[in-house]
Amino acid sequence: MKSSEIEIAPSILAADFARLGEEIKSVEPFVKRIHIDVMDGHYVPNLTIGIPVIQSIRKITSLIFDVHLMVVDPVPFVVPFAQAGSDVITLHIETLQDPDEAIDFIHSTGKKAGLSVHPDTPIELIFPFLAKLDNVLVMSVRPGFGGQEFMPEAIERISDIRHAIENAHSNAVISVDGGITAWNAREIAEAGAGILVVGSAVFGTGDPSAAVRELQKCVML
Ligand code: DX5
Ligand code: ZN
Repeated sequence: MKSSEIEIAPSILAADFARLGEEIKSVEPFVKRIHIDVMDGHYVPNLTIGIPVIQSIRKITSLIFDVHLMVVDPVPFVVPFAQAGSDVITLHIETLQDPDEAIDFIHSTGKKAGLSVHPDTPIELIFPFLAKLDNVLVMSVRPGFGGQEFMPEAIERISDIRHAIENAHSNAVISVDGGITAWNAREIAEAGAGILVVGSAVFGTGDPSAAVRELQKCVML
């Protein structure tokens, strides 16, 4: 992946929800997308936000909404999330009975499709679907909470997925989610990530826009 193409996707999970609109506006000039974590208290031991919040923030920005669904039975929610203003809908492969059908279903709504892979899940499970995927979201922490430490074993998983994407002649982009900071961003990009999802190291700092620009510098050639 050419580093000039590497995107930083701020994860609003770490934002101050009382000022969510302002937080998004603070990074808007510097990024193409934001990452939105939806958790149901079952697939992961935490609850976050859902459709009404996406509808509200859809009105204030035209940034790409990359929606990461951490829910046990996600397929019935694809259409509501598409209608709420999502642009990319990413489901966990562990939550799907028929990933192939789920990807087609997301595409039938006109949205881009992603599959996410939990750190405990063998990455080979996503290989059969690479050709039709727009995005592969590699979890580099156990999903559920922001502010965790990056799992170093994710690096090899990213590079193995990168090779599998090339072998499949797929255009899928690898996103990496969890524990990314200015200290490890470059190594993750060099392993093959095209999008770095960053929560705490953007919105958990005093100056989110400066943090985004710092991360962008880290992944530049
Ligand atoms: C964790 C979420 C992440 C989270 C990352 O389950 O999927 O998107 O916001 O946050 P940081 O960057 O703080 O690890
Ligand atoms: Zn996420």
